Amino acid sequence: MKMSVIYHSVTGNTKRMGDCIVSGMNSVEGAEARSFPIDAIDEEFAKDSKCIIFGSPIYTAHITGQMVDFFLDGARKLQLAGKLTGAYTTAQYVHGGGDLGIRDMLDYCMTMGALVYSGGSAEGKPVIHLGPIGIDNTMDIEQFVPYFEAYGRRMAQMALKLFGE
Ligand SMILES: Cc1cc2nc3c(=O)[nH]c(=O)nc-3n(C[C@H](O)[C@H](O)[C@H](O)COP(=O)(O)O)c2cc1C
Repeated sequence: MKMSVIYHSVTGNTKRMGDCIVSGMNSVEGAEARSFPIDAIDEEFAKDSKCIIFGSPIYTAHITGQMVDFFLDGARKLQLAGKLTGAYTTAQYVHGGGDLGIRDMLDYCMTMGALVYSGGSAEGKPVIHLGPIGIDNTMDIEQFVPYFEAYGRRMAQMALKLFGE
């Protein structure tokens, strides 16, 4: 089952964490996951994906302007209605707005008719309520890798449960 992670990244953190989600997804039998920056999406692959995760850096406690523009235009081509979606962010500060950015993106997904999921507390530890957040600079972002991999596994498992044969 195809799955995609689509992100905006300027200095590489959001790309790195997106690749960790892909790695978690691909550890689940039956998943074929790839990641794409918003300006170089394989549209056929993304359209065929049953699960799509969106990632953005946090700028002034919101997602980036480029990510907003993407949701208002490019994302419409991905036919999100009925697909399983999720979102993650990277930020500099624990209290810098990471959760707000996730909510921003989940709102866009719901507006386009997508299903949203994270696993929440139902999957046990690590508990990821809305989606994973990687903290850069003020912490070592590499310590967040296991959270992103676990999130990728959970999203893939739910997509296969919902849409697998
Ligand atoms: C213009 C600008 C605004 C930012 N605003 C915030 C912010 O409000 N809160 C925060 O925690 N980090 C903020 N950051 C830090 C970035 O979110 C963080 O470094 C992120 O991991 C960058 O992602 P990237 O490497 O994928 O581009 C800001 C960075 C820039 C360049």
